[in-house]
Amino acid sequence: MHILITGGTGLLGKRLTSYLLEHAMHPRIVSRSTNDSADISQYEWNVDEGRIDPDAFTEVDTVIHLAGANIAEGRWNTKRKEEILSSRIRSTRLLFESVKKINSNERPKTFICASATGYYGIHDFEHESREDDQAGEGFLAQVCLQWEKEADRFATLGMRVIKIRTGVVFDEKGGALHKMTQPIRYLMGSPLGSGKQSVCWIHWEDWCRAIHHFMTHKGLSGSYNLVAPEPVTNAKLTRLIARIIKRPLWLPNVPGFMLKFLLGEMSTVVLEGHKMSSKKLEDAGYQFNFPAAEKAISDLLIRP
Ligand SMILES: NC(=O)c1ccc[n+]([C@@H]2O[C@H](COP(=O)([O-])OP(=O)(O)OC[C@H]3O[C@@H](n4cnc5c(N)ncnc54)[C@H](OP(=O)(O)O)[C@@H]3O)[C@@H](O)[C@H]2O)c1
Repeated sequence: MHILITGGTGLLGKRLTSYLLEHAMHPRIVSRSTNDSADISQYEWNVDEGRIDPDAFTEVDTVIHLAGANIAEGRWNTKRKEEILSSRIRSTRLLFESVKKINSNERPKTFICASATGYYGIHDFEHESREDDQAGEGFLAQVCLQWEKEADRFATLGMRVIKIRTGVVFDEKGGALHKMTQPIRYLMGSPLGSGKQSVCWIHWEDWCRAIHHFMTHKGLSGSYNLVAPEPVTNAKLTRLIARIIKRPLWLPNVPGFMLKFLLGEMSTVVLEGHKMSSKKLEDAGYQFNFPAAEKAISDLLIRP
């Protein structure tokens, strides 16, 4: 099976590419810059100029669209927000227009599009968001809503569309877990804000396995929360990491106002959180390898 991954050079794209190779599939990536030394096929695109190498789609069964400007890099000023939104919307449109030109019997059959639990916006701590909930308020919710609307257009081409509302992906190589672990390792870690905000997370391996599940279960479509069944609060997560890597926690919580000052609007990502349901994914037959944070973090941080 040939699979085209956009954003394949990113944290999740690299994990997914390796996972698919290990499972005897044929991933290839599309990137803004290609690298001749890579061991898989790479195709170039330029979203601003509306260009993509047409050979990228040859014999492709599934397109997995992950590309987009990183939400955690740089302060969310007007320019950055525009880049976060337009890199996702315009790249999805470019993929759509390119796939539309392919004869219907040679088109990819499935379009899997990244989205995020940010879709639900901010709720009270007790509400557990499910896939049929309305999109919430706030910048990220609007980004996800508009991104998913663009993804839905692939259904008009007769393709199966899956939108993956991913929570915080735990990975020892980068992303949120890595950023949280570093200060704890150097004895400077503490919970953020009240520490009561829920962190809806997923181990990178479960994230890859869930995507594999969607690829092989052709009856599945629509949106799915990619989060483990057991969320943790920020304070519990901080304590878990500290215990697992054997470091004491001695500092008070980082005050919310300080994070708001330092990060601006982006502070909502770390200071606000609520619960998401993984039931739809489990009802679709997916079984988590890492349902609980303790097992996931131990696996990632003390893996030999
Ligand atoms: N990591 C998480 O915890 C998490 C959680 C929820 C949702 N997600 C979503 O999942 C997707 C993948 O996440 P990730 O952590 O792997 O992201 P990442 O490491 O930032 O990688 C994203 C990739 O997108 C491409 N890209 C970056 N800026 C771009 C731009 N302006 N225009 C077009 N392409 C651009 C880059 O590929 P090239 O340089 O090769 O073009 C980059 O490698 C993202 O859309 C992210 O929002 C991630």
